[in-house]
Amino acid sequence: MRLTVILAIVGVLGVASCNRSTRSAAQGSAAPIQANVGPIPGGLEGVNARLNPYATDAVALQDGRRLFDWYNCSGCHGGHAGGGMGPSLRDETWIYGNHDSQIFDSIAQGRSKGMPAWGTKIPEDQIWQLVAYIKSMRTPEEPDPPVEPADEMVGGPGPDSPVEPSPHNP
Ligand code: HEC
Repeated sequence: MRLTVILAIVGVLGVASCNRSTRSAAQGSAAPIQANVGPIPGGLEGVNARLNPYATDAVALQDGRRLFDWYNCSGCHGGHAGGGMGPSLRDETWIYGNHDSQIFDSIAQGRSKGMPAWGTKIPEDQIWQLVAYIKSMRTPEEPDPPVEPADEMVGGPGPDSPVEPSPHNP
């Protein structure tokens, strides 16, 4: 865990030094970087508010969709991230915030109650593709949206929802 944090800080510092002069660059190019580093609890204030370089890229959304299954995010968060052992990423509730950089950090650094850190396993550009996909959920741009979202709820009665034994599915 400590190594991950150090790597993340080194990464942020590296990016910061390259991009410091491009803060006012056109949208879609280098992300604006602020001086703070590391995970900072609380609101966005003080958060290193990076923006997703793939935010509006339809191909990246498709790739993010594939990666979500490829890395088995769906195993914990549900097939279309509707929730499972891990929380829903489709709903409007965010434990750790829904800013691009907060979702990035949730994935890269992990979160304390059962979310693994993927920063050493998934290249940064793929993490951004996952962020883009997650943020496209419930929008018309979402690739391969669920047909019936209700079926994805844990314990949902859908005939072809994968029912796993759990306290919610007696
Ligand atoms: C082993 C199960 C597991 C896997 C695999 C997993 N997650 Fe999670 N994830 C969780 C849990 C549990 C939480 C909630 C952690 C907490 O509350 O501290 C979480 C939290 C998150 C959050 C923060 C949600 C919020 O409301 O702020 C995001 C984003 C996320 N996961 C994305 C992903 C992505 C993308 C992948 C695949 C690369 C993935 N997760 C794989 C279990 C998992």
